[in-house]
Amino acid sequence: MVKASAPGKLMLFGEHAVIYNKPCIVASVDHRISVWLKKRNDNQIILNAPGINLKNYTVLVDDLNKPYPRKIRFVLVAIKNFFEKYKMKSGLDVETKAEFSSRFGLGSSSAVTVSTIKALFELFGIEAEQREIFNLSYKTVLDVQGLGSGFDVAAAVYGGILFFVTGGKVIKPIEITDIPLVVGYTGVKADTPTLVKMVGRKLLEEPDRINGIFNKIKNIVNLAKTEIENKNWKKVGHLMNLNQDLLRELGVSSKELENLIKAALDSGAYGAKLSGAGGGDCMVVLSTRESLNNIKKAIEKAGGIIIEAKIPAEGVRTE
Ligand code: MEV
Repeated sequence: MVKASAPGKLMLFGEHAVIYNKPCIVASVDHRISVWLKKRNDNQIILNAPGINLKNYTVLVDDLNKPYPRKIRFVLVAIKNFFEKYKMKSGLDVETKAEFSSRFGLGSSSAVTVSTIKALFELFGIEAEQREIFNLSYKTVLDVQGLGSGFDVAAAVYGGILFFVTGGKVIKPIEITDIPLVVGYTGVKADTPTLVKMVGRKLLEEPDRINGIFNKIKNIVNLAKTEIENKNWKKVGHLMNLNQDLLRELGVSSKELENLIKAALDSGAYGAKLSGAGGGDCMVVLSTRESLNNIKKAIEKAGGIIIEAKIPAEGVRTE
Protein backbone atom coordinates (compact mmCIF):
# COMPACT_ATOMS: atom_id res chain seq x y z
CA MET A 1 0.00 0.00 0.00
CA VAL A 2 1.32 3.48 -0.81
CA LYS A 3 0.01 6.88 0.21
CA ALA A 4 0.63 10.29 -1.40
CA SER A 5 -0.76 13.69 -0.50
CA ALA A 6 -0.75 17.07 -2.28
CA PRO A 7 -1.70 20.58 -1.15
CA GLY A 8 -4.42 22.90 -2.43
CA LYS A 9 -3.75 26.35 -3.91
CA LEU A 10 -4.66 30.00 -3.82
CA MET A 11 -4.07 32.31 -6.74
CA LEU A 12 -2.37 35.48 -5.45
CA PHE A 13 -1.89 37.41 -8.74
CA GLY A 14 -2.55 37.00 -12.46
CA GLU A 15 -5.71 34.87 -12.83
CA HIS A 16 -7.31 34.79 -16.30
CA ALA A 17 -4.31 36.51 -17.94
CA VAL A 18 -2.31 33.32 -17.18
CA ILE A 19 -4.52 31.44 -19.65
CA TYR A 20 -3.07 33.74 -22.36
CA ASN A 21 0.67 33.27 -21.97
CA LYS A 22 1.10 35.64 -19.06
CA PRO A 23 2.62 34.89 -15.64
CA CYS A 24 0.82 34.43 -12.33
CA ILE A 25 1.78 33.93 -8.69
CA VAL A 26 0.22 30.97 -6.86
CA ALA A 27 0.58 29.87 -3.24
CA SER A 28 0.12 26.29 -2.05
CA VAL A 29 -2.20 25.81 0.92
CA ASP A 30 -1.76 23.14 3.56
CA HIS A 31 -5.20 21.63 3.11
CA ARG A 32 -4.17 18.34 1.56
CA ILE A 33 -5.79 15.58 -0.47
CA SER A 34 -4.48 12.06 0.15
CA VAL A 35 -4.63 9.01 -2.10
CA TRP A 36 -3.93 5.40 -1.03
CA LEU A 37 -3.20 2.78 -3.69
CA LYS A 38 -2.81 -0.98 -3.49
CA LYS A 39 -2.37 -3.51 -6.30
CA ARG A 40 -5.10 -6.12 -6.77
CA ASN A 41 -4.74 -9.57 -8.32
CA ASP A 42 -7.73 -9.08 -10.62
CA ASN A 43 -8.65 -6.52 -13.32
CA GLN A 44 -10.82 -4.27 -11.15
CA ILE A 45 -10.21 -0.72 -9.98
CA ILE A 46 -12.24 -0.21 -6.81
CA LEU A 47 -12.65 3.36 -5.61
CA ASN A 48 -13.56 4.56 -2.13
CA ALA A 49 -13.94 8.21 -1.21
CA PRO A 50 -15.87 8.58 2.05
CA GLY A 51 -15.86 12.41 1.74
CA ILE A 52 -18.02 12.26 -1.40
CA ASN A 53 -20.02 9.17 -0.38
CA LEU A 54 -18.32 6.89 -2.86
CA LYS A 55 -18.23 3.28 -1.72
CA ASN A 56 -16.66 0.42 -3.74
CA TYR A 57 -17.22 2.10 -7.12
CA THR A 58 -15.86 -0.53 -9.51
CA VAL A 59 -14.33 -0.01 -12.96
CA LEU A 60 -12.60 -2.64 -15.11
CA VAL A 61 -9.00 -1.84 -16.08
CA ASP A 62 -9.97 -2.30 -19.76
CA ASP A 63 -12.85 0.16 -19.42
CA LEU A 64 -10.80 3.20 -18.31
CA ASN A 65 -11.68 4.95 -21.58
CA LYS A 66 -15.39 5.16 -20.76
CA PRO A 67 -16.92 8.48 -19.62
CA TYR A 68 -17.31 8.40 -15.81
CA PRO A 69 -18.93 10.94 -13.43
CA ARG A 70 -16.79 14.06 -13.05
CA LYS A 71 -16.05 13.52 -9.36
CA ILE A 72 -14.04 10.35 -10.12
CA ARG A 73 -12.76 11.19 -13.60
CA PHE A 74 -9.55 12.91 -12.43
CA VAL A 75 -8.42 9.75 -10.60
CA LEU A 76 -9.45 7.36 -13.39
CA VAL A 77 -7.93 9.43 -16.21
CA ALA A 78 -4.72 9.80 -14.16
CA ILE A 79 -4.54 5.98 -13.89
CA LYS A 80 -5.33 5.57 -17.61
CA ASN A 81 -2.63 8.09 -18.64
CA PHE A 82 -0.07 6.47 -16.34
CA PHE A 83 -0.82 2.93 -17.61
CA GLU A 84 -0.60 4.11 -21.24
CA LYS A 85 2.65 6.03 -20.79
CA TYR A 86 4.46 3.35 -18.77
CA LYS A 87 2.87 0.30 -20.43
CA MET A 88 1.45 -0.97 -17.13
CA LYS A 89 -1.80 -2.67 -16.24
CA SER A 90 -3.07 -3.79 -12.84
CA GLY A 91 -6.19 -3.91 -10.74
CA LEU A 92 -6.08 -1.33 -7.94
CA ASP A 93 -7.73 -0.45 -4.67
CA VAL A 94 -7.96 3.35 -4.49
CA GLU A 95 -9.01 5.47 -1.55
CA THR A 96 -9.05 9.28 -1.46
CA LYS A 97 -9.55 11.66 1.42
CA ALA A 98 -9.72 15.48 1.35
CA GLU A 99 -8.96 17.86 4.20
CA PHE A 100 -11.07 20.51 2.47
CA SER A 101 -14.31 20.68 0.55
CA SER A 102 -14.19 21.02 -3.24
CA ARG A 103 -16.67 23.91 -2.94
CA PHE A 104 -13.97 26.34 -1.69
CA GLY A 105 -12.16 26.41 -5.04
CA LEU A 106 -8.85 25.49 -3.42
CA GLY A 107 -7.83 23.16 -6.23
CA SER A 108 -9.16 19.77 -5.13
CA SER A 109 -9.22 18.38 -8.70
CA SER A 110 -5.55 19.17 -9.34
CA ALA A 111 -4.49 17.99 -5.85
CA VAL A 112 -6.25 14.62 -6.23
CA THR A 113 -4.77 14.19 -9.73
CA VAL A 114 -1.23 14.96 -8.58
CA SER A 115 -1.54 12.68 -5.51
CA THR A 116 -2.77 9.84 -7.71
CA ILE A 117 0.09 10.22 -10.21
CA LYS A 118 2.69 10.42 -7.43
CA ALA A 119 1.23 7.33 -5.72
CA LEU A 120 1.29 5.43 -9.05
CA PHE A 121 5.00 6.17 -9.57
CA GLU A 122 5.67 4.95 -6.03
CA LEU A 123 3.49 1.82 -6.38
CA PHE A 124 5.17 0.72 -9.63
CA GLY A 125 8.66 1.63 -8.43
CA ILE A 126 9.37 4.22 -11.13
CA GLU A 127 11.59 7.22 -10.30
CA ALA A 128 10.00 10.49 -11.39
CA GLU A 129 11.18 14.08 -11.34
CA GLN A 130 8.70 16.78 -10.29
CA ARG A 131 8.54 17.88 -13.95
CA GLU A 132 7.32 14.45 -15.05
CA ILE A 133 4.66 14.42 -12.32
CA PHE A 134 3.60 17.90 -13.46
CA ASN A 135 3.43 16.92 -17.15
CA LEU A 136 1.35 13.79 -16.63
CA SER A 137 -0.95 15.51 -14.11
CA TYR A 138 -1.46 18.55 -16.34
CA LYS A 139 -2.28 16.31 -19.32
CA THR A 140 -4.84 14.54 -17.09
CA VAL A 141 -6.48 17.81 -16.01
CA LEU A 142 -6.68 18.98 -19.65
CA ASP A 143 -8.09 15.60 -20.76
CA VAL A 144 -10.83 15.87 -18.12
CA GLN A 145 -11.79 19.55 -18.23
CA GLY A 146 -10.41 20.78 -21.54
CA LEU A 147 -8.98 24.05 -20.21
CA GLY A 148 -6.71 25.48 -17.54
CA SER A 149 -3.29 27.10 -17.34
CA GLY A 150 -1.90 24.38 -15.03
CA PHE A 151 -0.98 26.77 -12.16
CA ASP A 152 -3.01 24.65 -9.71
CA VAL A 153 -1.21 21.48 -10.81
CA ALA A 154 2.15 23.20 -10.30
CA ALA A 155 1.16 24.30 -6.77
CA ALA A 156 0.16 20.72 -5.91
CA VAL A 157 3.44 19.28 -7.27
CA TYR A 158 6.02 21.84 -6.14
CA GLY A 159 4.35 23.47 -3.12
CA GLY A 160 5.66 26.82 -1.86
CA ILE A 161 4.87 30.04 -3.68
CA LEU A 162 5.45 29.92 -7.41
CA PHE A 163 5.95 32.32 -10.29
CA PHE A 164 4.25 30.39 -13.08
CA VAL A 165 3.73 30.93 -16.82
CA THR A 166 0.97 29.19 -18.83
CA GLY A 167 1.32 25.43 -19.19
CA GLY A 168 4.42 25.37 -16.99
CA LYS A 169 6.68 27.27 -19.45
CA VAL A 170 8.20 28.82 -16.32
CA ILE A 171 7.82 27.38 -12.80
CA LYS A 172 10.03 29.28 -10.37
CA PRO A 173 9.81 29.17 -6.57
CA ILE A 174 9.60 32.50 -4.75
CA GLU A 175 11.70 31.84 -1.67
CA ILE A 176 9.44 32.90 1.18
CA THR A 177 8.21 30.83 4.10
CA ASP A 178 5.59 33.06 5.65
CA ILE A 179 3.11 35.61 4.27
CA PRO A 180 0.51 37.57 6.32
CA LEU A 181 -2.63 36.49 4.45
CA VAL A 182 -6.27 36.06 5.38
CA VAL A 183 -8.53 33.91 3.21
CA GLY A 184 -12.27 34.59 3.11
CA TYR A 185 -14.80 32.29 1.45
CA THR A 186 -17.88 33.96 -0.06
CA GLY A 187 -20.17 30.95 0.33
CA VAL A 188 -20.76 30.96 -3.44
CA LYS A 189 -19.28 28.26 -5.69
CA ALA A 190 -17.49 29.75 -8.70
CA ASP A 191 -18.06 28.25 -12.13
CA THR A 192 -14.54 28.42 -13.56
CA PRO A 193 -15.18 27.09 -17.11
CA THR A 194 -18.07 29.53 -17.65
CA LEU A 195 -15.98 32.50 -16.44
CA VAL A 196 -12.94 31.49 -18.51
CA LYS A 197 -15.15 31.16 -21.61
CA MET A 198 -16.81 34.53 -20.91
CA VAL A 199 -13.39 36.24 -20.78
CA GLY A 200 -12.46 34.38 -24.00
CA ARG A 201 -15.55 35.80 -25.73
CA LYS A 202 -14.71 39.32 -24.56
CA LEU A 203 -11.19 38.90 -25.92
CA LEU A 204 -12.64 38.10 -29.35
CA GLU A 205 -15.09 41.00 -29.22
CA GLU A 206 -12.70 43.64 -27.86
CA PRO A 207 -9.14 42.37 -28.41
CA ASP A 208 -7.41 45.71 -27.80
CA ARG A 209 -9.14 46.45 -24.50
CA ILE A 210 -8.80 42.92 -23.11
CA ASN A 211 -5.19 42.47 -24.26
CA GLY A 212 -4.49 45.85 -22.64
CA ILE A 213 -5.86 44.51 -19.34
CA PHE A 214 -3.83 41.30 -19.65
CA ASN A 215 -0.63 43.29 -20.26
CA LYS A 216 -1.28 45.47 -17.20
CA ILE A 217 -1.86 42.30 -15.13
CA LYS A 218 1.44 40.91 -16.42
CA ASN A 219 3.28 44.04 -15.23
CA ILE A 220 1.61 43.78 -11.81
CA VAL A 221 2.62 40.11 -11.48
CA ASN A 222 6.26 40.93 -12.29
CA LEU A 223 6.33 43.77 -9.73
CA ALA A 224 4.59 41.60 -7.13
CA LYS A 225 7.23 38.89 -7.47
CA THR A 226 9.96 41.35 -6.46
CA GLU A 227 7.93 42.91 -3.65
CA ILE A 228 7.03 39.49 -2.20
CA GLU A 229 10.72 38.54 -2.25
CA ASN A 230 11.46 41.83 -0.44
CA LYS A 231 8.64 41.16 2.05
CA ASN A 232 7.36 44.64 1.28
CA TRP A 233 3.78 43.80 2.29
CA LYS A 234 2.43 47.33 1.93
CA LYS A 235 3.49 47.39 -1.73
CA VAL A 236 2.26 43.83 -2.31
CA GLY A 237 -1.13 44.88 -0.90
CA HIS A 238 -1.24 47.91 -3.20
CA LEU A 239 -0.51 45.66 -6.19
CA MET A 240 -3.34 43.34 -5.09
CA ASN A 241 -5.73 46.29 -5.20
CA LEU A 242 -4.53 47.23 -8.71
CA ASN A 243 -4.97 43.61 -9.85
CA GLN A 244 -8.50 43.59 -8.38
CA ASP A 245 -9.36 46.81 -10.31
CA LEU A 246 -8.40 45.01 -13.54
CA LEU A 247 -10.37 41.86 -12.64
CA ARG A 248 -13.38 44.11 -12.01
CA GLU A 249 -12.85 45.62 -15.48
CA LEU A 250 -12.78 42.08 -16.92
CA GLY A 251 -16.19 41.57 -15.30
CA VAL A 252 -15.30 38.57 -13.13
CA SER A 253 -15.84 40.02 -9.66
CA SER A 254 -19.16 39.66 -7.82
CA LYS A 255 -21.27 41.40 -5.18
CA GLU A 256 -20.23 38.87 -2.52
CA LEU A 257 -16.53 39.21 -3.34
CA GLU A 258 -16.76 43.02 -3.36
CA ASN A 259 -18.48 43.03 0.05
CA LEU A 260 -15.70 40.98 1.63
CA ILE A 261 -12.98 43.01 -0.12
CA LYS A 262 -14.53 46.28 1.13
CA ALA A 263 -14.85 44.93 4.68
CA ALA A 264 -11.17 43.96 4.67
CA LEU A 265 -9.95 47.28 3.25
CA ASP A 266 -12.18 49.29 5.63
CA SER A 267 -10.58 47.52 8.57
CA GLY A 268 -7.07 48.42 7.56
CA ALA A 269 -5.86 45.75 5.11
CA TYR A 270 -3.02 46.68 2.76
CA GLY A 271 -4.80 44.98 -0.10
CA ALA A 272 -7.54 42.52 -1.02
CA LYS A 273 -8.63 40.74 -4.16
CA LEU A 274 -10.56 37.78 -5.48
CA SER A 275 -8.57 34.57 -5.89
CA GLY A 276 -9.22 32.27 -8.84
CA ALA A 277 -11.78 32.56 -11.59
CA GLY A 278 -14.04 35.05 -9.73
CA GLY A 279 -17.82 35.00 -9.42
CA GLY A 280 -17.48 33.51 -5.90
CA ASP A 281 -15.08 31.12 -4.13
CA CYS A 282 -12.39 32.86 -2.08
CA MET A 283 -10.78 36.27 -1.67
CA VAL A 284 -7.34 36.96 -0.21
CA VAL A 285 -6.26 39.80 2.02
CA LEU A 286 -2.81 41.07 2.94
CA SER A 287 -2.28 43.11 6.08
CA THR A 288 0.02 43.79 9.01
CA ARG A 289 0.14 40.84 11.39
CA GLU A 290 -1.40 43.05 14.11
CA SER A 291 -4.61 43.69 12.13
CA LEU A 292 -5.15 40.10 10.94
CA ASN A 293 -7.67 39.36 13.70
CA ASN A 294 -9.70 42.53 13.16
CA ILE A 295 -9.85 41.82 9.46
CA LYS A 296 -11.06 38.27 10.05
CA LYS A 297 -13.87 39.60 12.25
CA ALA A 298 -14.84 42.20 9.62
CA ILE A 299 -14.98 39.55 6.89
CA GLU A 300 -17.19 37.33 9.05
CA LYS A 301 -19.45 40.25 9.83
CA ALA A 302 -19.81 40.88 6.09
CA GLY A 303 -21.00 37.27 5.60
CA GLY A 304 -17.71 35.56 4.72
CA ILE A 305 -16.21 32.39 6.17
CA ILE A 306 -12.55 32.49 7.24
CA ILE A 307 -10.46 29.62 5.93
CA GLU A 308 -7.59 28.92 8.31
CA ALA A 309 -4.67 27.40 6.46
CA LYS A 310 -0.91 27.31 6.53
CA ILE A 311 0.47 29.10 3.48
CA PRO A 312 2.74 28.08 1.81
CA ALA A 313 2.70 24.29 2.11
CA GLU A 314 4.94 21.41 1.08
CA GLY A 315 4.34 19.97 -2.42
CA VAL A 316 3.27 16.41 -3.21
CA ARG A 317 4.89 13.73 -1.04
CA THR A 318 4.57 10.07 -0.22
CA GLU A 319 3.93 9.24 3.40
C1 MEV B 1 -8.93 29.83 -11.96
O1 MEV B 1 -8.67 29.43 -10.64
C2 MEV B 1 -7.81 30.65 -12.54
C3 MEV B 1 -7.92 30.90 -14.03
O2 MEV B 1 -6.81 31.70 -14.42
C4 MEV B 1 -7.96 29.61 -14.80
C5 MEV B 1 -6.61 28.93 -14.95
O3 MEV B 1 -5.56 29.58 -14.88
O4 MEV B 1 -6.60 27.71 -15.19
C6 MEV B 1 -9.19 31.69 -14.33
